[in-house]
Amino acid sequence: MTETPEVKKAPYVIEWRDGFKIGVAQVDQEHRHLFTLVRALNLASVDQTVDELLDYVVTHFSNEQDMMEKSGYPAFEQHIRLHEEFAAQVADFLASGQAWSEDRVQELRRFLNKWLIGHIMTHDLRFGHWHASHHAPIAHATPHQKAPTFIGFFARLFGAGK
Ligand SMILES: [Fe+2]
Repeated sequence: MTETPEVKKAPYVIEWRDGFKIGVAQVDQEHRHLFTLVRALNLASVDQTVDELLDYVVTHFSNEQDMMEKSGYPAFEQHIRLHEEFAAQVADFLASGQAWSEDRVQELRRFLNKWLIGHIMTHDLRFGHWHASHHAPIAHATPHQKAPTFIGFFARLFGAGK
């Protein structure tokens, strides 16, 4: 160990950049907001910031899935499963019962940033390319807070016991 105990680790932060855009304006805007919320996670108000982030994840996934379904995206079902796998991973993390600490907040932030970037640059980008090449009318999800199946899924995972 060369690190002295006084040296505080810099927070793990990945900023949004234009290179993460997939070319569908609403999705890009929502992804950008997700990065802002991940950045805002902090120990002092961890319950509130985690709740706010997860609420927005549900809204975003619902909007994105709505857009994919309405535009006839062939990999729609597969994409839903990726979102569900993510939800399950987050649920596992939160269900471990460990008390929050700076390290644990960092760990969550690191996981979220990495997952988001990997997912956006692979699967969401695939949708962006498909969308552009099919000249689909720019799909706008009807902004909504509720996508019954997914909300239900998250409610089961993150509901009362959290
Ligand atoms: Fe996605």
